[in-house]
Amino acid sequence: MSTTIAVLASGRGSNFQAIINAVKKGECDAEIKVLITDNPEAKAIARAEKENILFRVVEKSKFPERETFDNEIKKILDRFSIDLVVLAGYMRVLKSGELLETYKNRIINIHPSLLPSFPGVAAQRQAFEYGVRISGVTVHFVDQSLDGGPIIHQEAVDISDCSSPSEVSEKILEAEHRVYPMVVDSFSKGRYIVEKRRVRYIRTS
Ligand code: GRF
Repeated sequence: MSTTIAVLASGRGSNFQAIINAVKKGECDAEIKVLITDNPEAKAIARAEKENILFRVVEKSKFPERETFDNEIKKILDRFSIDLVVLAGYMRVLKSGELLETYKNRIINIHPSLLPSFPGVAAQRQAFEYGVRISGVTVHFVDQSLDGGPIIHQEAVDISDCSSPSEVSEKILEAEHRVYPMVVDSFSKGRYIVEKRRVRYIRTS
């Protein structure tokens, strides 16, 4: 049986689209059950509609308390029996202990730098301004920290020839679209075991 996933996205949703495309091509063994967004204007919603994927909008104005907001998300995840929660450009830090504990090591995020370098927002700009020649992509488990959970997968991207932060973003995004569906697919085919900060993979199928 495919891994059931929920994608959480706040904006453009190009990583969401990359996962959709990979699932359709049979390259990612996952069933996308629902898109959850905190932003009623998110472009990701149109992508879900086009693909007949259910979506749910959880609005900050209705749930101003962080804990209650996250627990509203948890209710949706529970309802859809989600195996894996995929954050793809989701712009809020998950705060609810209940959500993080229930879905421990089953929530992943993609970050556009080689963590622990350049956590937080505008990682591509941070890398460009710092002048690093190599940056990249990190997929990691989500815990209560900011971009600090155990690292699952990393890929380096040479940004030495980029002349602006947006060029860096573009170059890294190409890698993101390749990497994220691959990691989701690995979830379906095996188990990630977290030992302290190190993540070990056991393939089971
Ligand atoms: C990506 O760069 C991702 O790494 C970061 O937010 C961006 C989301 O882009 N977390 P998109 O919404 O998937 O196009």
